[in-house]
Amino acid sequence: MTTTHTTTTSDPNLPECWQTLEDVLNNGIDRVILFGPPGTGKTFAGMNFGDISRGSHRITCTEDMTNLQVDGNFMPSSDGKSFKWYEGSALKAWQSGGRLVIDEIDKAGSDVFATLLNFLDTPDSASWEHPETAEVFRPQLGFSAVMTTNVEDMDELPEALSDRFPVRIRINQPHPTALKRLSRDLRQIASQMADAGNQRISLRTFMAFDSLRKSLGDERASKIVFANRAEGIIDAIKINSVERA
Ligand SMILES: Nc1ncnc2c1ncn2[C@@H]1O[C@H](COP(=O)(O)OP(=O)(O)OP(=O)(O)O)[C@@H](O)[C@H]1O
Ligand SMILES: [Mg+2]
Repeated sequence: MTTTHTTTTSDPNLPECWQTLEDVLNNGIDRVILFGPPGTGKTFAGMNFGDISRGSHRITCTEDMTNLQVDGNFMPSSDGKSFKWYEGSALKAWQSGGRLVIDEIDKAGSDVFATLLNFLDTPDSASWEHPETAEVFRPQLGFSAVMTTNVEDMDELPEALSDRFPVRIRINQPHPTALKRLSRDLRQIASQMADAGNQRISLRTFMAFDSLRKSLGDERASKIVFANRAEGIIDAIKINSVERA
């Protein structure tokens, strides 16, 4: 019997968290939780990394959301004469065998939560019955799910949910391709500040600064974006530039 192993080559420049994600997605893991500070690229990774050839669908959880986004809901048809079932993201991802990304999973209310548990169950026990036709749906081969959260302690997530996702990766810095969207002199500091505890400054903030500085100059842009931390940040950017030169 021949056994085929999928191997992944390590990129020495890829931060460990991103290498781990690449390794698990390329080696048969189809349920991953990405957690950690905001703005590091968790949602982007969920939507774009690994095999997403059959599409990616996203749900953003809030306390008052309904299952409309998850399995779907009856809505008036365009002529207003009848009701039609509009599929939610989880059902779409099941049917295509694509990727489901569930953002801010810790915010889901109990109703949505229960529906999500069903959609995220192991493929042999998961099924969903269409409320009108009674047709039974099951996840198509290839279905994968990535959940994201800013919660730091995975024990805070309900056990039934986290049990379905044995692989959890803390993303502690932006992906190199995200940093490349910034001007060179901002990349290092943006990477350092992404996980700097209560001093943290997210990639999105640096992107806003980078955009404003082009027309307003460093000083004014930094005051607008970094407020009372502007001076310190500008100094750090200058030091980084000198060190790199
Ligand atoms: N690998 C990447 N390549 C290009 N752009 C990226 C990449 N990763 C993230 N970005 C960009 O960086 C920004 C933040 O990314 P994203 O929304 O995925 O962060 P997040 O970790 O999900 O944040 P939050 O925890 O607040 O939801 C977005 O504008 C996104 O398009
Ligand atoms: Mg996100």
